[in-house]
Amino acid sequence: HDAVSVIAAKRDGHALTDGQIDWVVDAFTTGAVADEQMSALAMAIVLRGMDRREIARWTRAMIASGDRMDFGALRRDGRSLRTVDKHSTGGVGDKITLPLAPLVASYGLAVPQLSGRGLGHTGGTLDKLESIPGWRADVTAADMMTQLENVGAIVCAAGSGLAPADKRLYALRDVTATVESIPLIASSIMSKKIAEGTGALVLDVKVGSGAFMKSIDDARELAETMVALGADAGVETVALVTAMSTPLGYTAGNAIEVEESLEVLSGGGPDDVVELTLALAAEMLAAGGIDADPATNLSNGRAMDSWRAMIAAQGGDPDAPLPRADHQEVITAERDGVVTRLDALGVGVAAWRLGAGRARQGEDVQHEAGVRWHARPGDRVHAGDPLFTLSTQTPERFASAREALADAVTVADAHDGVSDLAGTLI
Ligand code: URA
Repeated sequence: HDAVSVIAAKRDGHALTDGQIDWVVDAFTTGAVADEQMSALAMAIVLRGMDRREIARWTRAMIASGDRMDFGALRRDGRSLRTVDKHSTGGVGDKITLPLAPLVASYGLAVPQLSGRGLGHTGGTLDKLESIPGWRADVTAADMMTQLENVGAIVCAAGSGLAPADKRLYALRDVTATVESIPLIASSIMSKKIAEGTGALVLDVKVGSGAFMKSIDDARELAETMVALGADAGVETVALVTAMSTPLGYTAGNAIEVEESLEVLSGGGPDDVVELTLALAAEMLAAGGIDADPATNLSNGRAMDSWRAMIAAQGGDPDAPLPRADHQEVITAERDGVVTRLDALGVGVAAWRLGAGRARQGEDVQHEAGVRWHARPGDRVHAGDPLFTLSTQTPERFASAREALADAVTVADAHDGVSDLAGTLI
């Protein structure tokens, strides 16, 4: 095999053979296939797609590129621990993992939450958590086991040994406009989750302007593809399809999303964030064989106790003040009316441009950067009311963020109809 002929085959619309897939993923992992070749192949996959056989084989090859973990030895009080994980396909303001992992752990399940960094206009869970002073995303496999046994929840980077092909491909796709693809997303997510060895998996498949899947049909297909990949690998997998045309909560960025998650863990927080957290928690508890109402531990403080233990176990100081931006700008409403639309993509791009995400591979993100919105669909506003507060450490970024938001909000007369809030089950 050689890279050029594999790229050309996909470019011309052919299905790749098992041999081609195994070879190209392996050669990319070892460095024999260069980044520019893999980028070209990724673009060909975005444009031409893959059938179910190709996706299954690609996923298998990505798993085989590295190690597999095994949580079978986890014990607490002499009994084996059940593992349940959740993964979102990526949204704007999607901070759900932050309250969800400790919430589910507070009921006695182990939540091994291997998470990612920002991808395109969507935020990354690890980038958000790194705004907590001292907190580290990189932990050894042994520390991961200890934390799961003692605390129950861990949110960390997949070790370099776990699906390394995905790690490299993910970083390439982020900067080459090759994220939006059912085969690439399904194989990326499921290779990590299967290699991780979770017992059960709950997927949050996002659909709408702020998601990688723009139509319900595509979101359903992505959900079905991932559930089938999970079932084939013996991971009990369920998927919820949820709305992502409006961003979740009131914040998109890094530290500001941690702040909002802390409100949820304190028993408050935006209703859409709380509802989605509870819906996913209910699925995770059910998958883990626990019969309980997940709202209880948000209101009685147990989920917050798990959060504090989880942050501290990874070197973070749960009491440290979160970093705040040196520069802020406010965008105000031009007219009286009702907000009928708040576009998740525009908000996500603005947060990204302010420095919450990356423009180039390996770049540092700004902990302080992000967008806060003050009104959501259904809210009444008056001319001059603040609609957005933009935060960054680099004020020269304001202009391009404003541009991304220019069309992101519609203020209309009340009777024009209001779009769904984020997180609504579909
Ligand atoms: N999340 C992932 O892990 N991979 C993708 O491709 C998209 C979202």
